[in-house]
Amino acid sequence: MKDVYILSVETSCDETSIAIVKNGNEVVALSILTQMDTHANYGGVVPEIASRMHTENITMVLEDVLNKSHMKIEDMDAIAVTYAPGLLGSLLVGVEFAKVLSYVYDKPLIKVNHLIGHIYANKIDNKLHFPSLALIISGGHTELIKITGDYQFEKLGETQDDAIGEAFDKVARVLDLKYPGGPNIERLAKEGKNNYKLPEMVKDNTYNFSYSGLKSSVINLVHNEKQRGNDINKADLACSFQCAAVEELKRKLELALKNTNIKNVIIAGGVSANKYLREEINKLCQKYNAKLDVPEFIYCTDNAAMIGAAAYPLFQSKEFADLDLNASSNSDIC
Ligand code: KG4
Ligand code: ZN
Repeated sequence: MKDVYILSVETSCDETSIAIVKNGNEVVALSILTQMDTHANYGGVVPEIASRMHTENITMVLEDVLNKSHMKIEDMDAIAVTYAPGLLGSLLVGVEFAKVLSYVYDKPLIKVNHLIGHIYANKIDNKLHFPSLALIISGGHTELIKITGDYQFEKLGETQDDAIGEAFDKVARVLDLKYPGGPNIERLAKEGKNNYKLPEMVKDNTYNFSYSGLKSSVINLVHNEKQRGNDINKADLACSFQCAAVEELKRKLELALKNTNIKNVIIAGGVSANKYLREEINKLCQKYNAKLDVPEFIYCTDNAAMIGAAAYPLFQSKEFADLDLNASSNSDIC
């Protein structure tokens, strides 16, 4: 069978990324230009700055990926792009760029949902096993999904308030750590102990998550101690928060492992880069004889290779988008 090359574009947040992916699971070239240092000055992503920087950088990123791959746009079989969910202004830059490439080079256009991209990051250099339970854990999402086949998703539960990554970022801020908070909390937590008693999270029998209570309890604790003039052991607090945040994921995943008897688990999204989380989820999976798949670190956070991987089944079923494709903030994948 002829090899299929997809040029994929991802600009949903603060990474401008383009990749060339062969047959849905082999990354020929990947370029990621992160704006993290710029947004760190503001304590979080500034949407207006993000879209301006995508506009400035996207052509350079394309050039980089073409140079790395020694391929031309003419060699591609399709152009794929993240169209939802994310920051609308940022998404629009990628969507317009991909539409122009598709039009000028007469290549089919494929629209990809960012969250599905995070799931298919697991397919790079690997296989997706069905049925599977997927934990999507990122800055904007915390969802537990049952996957029964390519693009066959059933949402079991989701966060009722904050996303887990958002909680990491906000707690980081109150601990005076730089944006993005997740990796910095993880680093600091390694030096600390789980000594702070944070309030127990609501225990129910749904697959839904909640992070705002945990986030607020850490923020309140810091403010109260400061007011009293007491010192905070930041490393211990980072460790206690991380343990509680991961516990919430484990509890819901355990419920699903018990109830569904599914033996494959995937974790996807930026927070899956967290090593402590990976180890804890892995232990839980072992207890239930389930196999855990986690993408390589580079494919955990936002990147275009995962978009190319997620576009491949759509290419095979010829589900192409029209040139009036627009960006959308809708995050539904099923
Ligand atoms: O998937 P992603 O790159 O962007 C979104 O789609 O949101 O995820 C970004 C999120 C941020 O909240 C960031 O703090 C978190 O992932 N993150 C981490 C780690 N690395 C990134 N959270 C915890 N531990 C990490 N090592
Ligand atoms: Zn993401």
